[in-house]
Amino acid sequence: MHRVVCPGSFDPVTNGHLDIISRASGLYDEVIVAVLINVTKRSLFTVDERVEMLGEVTAHYGNVTIDRFHGLLVDFCAANGIAAVIKGLRAVTDFEYEMQMAQMNYRMAKVETLFMTTNPLYSYLSSSLVKEITRYGGDVGGLVPDAVLTRLRARLAEEQAGQQAGD
Ligand code: PNS
Repeated sequence: MHRVVCPGSFDPVTNGHLDIISRASGLYDEVIVAVLINVTKRSLFTVDERVEMLGEVTAHYGNVTIDRFHGLLVDFCAANGIAAVIKGLRAVTDFEYEMQMAQMNYRMAKVETLFMTTNPLYSYLSSSLVKEITRYGGDVGGLVPDAVLTRLRARLAEEQAGQQAGD
């Protein structure tokens, strides 16, 4: 059984993430999408919400499961019998940081990292940009799944209503 983990913050999942997950599911027996529980980073969606959205948008893949982890990714891999990590590479700007993590993960636990080149349709896409554009009323249709877009708009509207109430 060849398992691979696709780790990330997924705040929220984009069509770029989904493209990598979908292609990985064609290559591996099992793909585990692992959401990092990061208490120090402020996120728009809770870990539960991110896991739920990922579950909804990957439900049609028979070999994709969603999980969460805290601490080191290599420890999650050891606990789940995972030998490799799969990451999407968008542009050279991703490379330096990804290379550093990949080499460190290999040094720590011999966990391999495989890089998949992002579909050029999504090479400029990030969760941060999606949030920023939606926050200011821009259109990100086609860049995130429709179900995610609905939740994104609702959450940002809640956030703005909360801010106005505090003014
Ligand atoms: O979507 P992101 O935020 O770019 O994902 C980054 C992630 C979760 C893959 C990375 O931060 C990670 O693996 N964090 C777990 C902590 C860890 O193992 N740190 C050491 C890396 S060498």
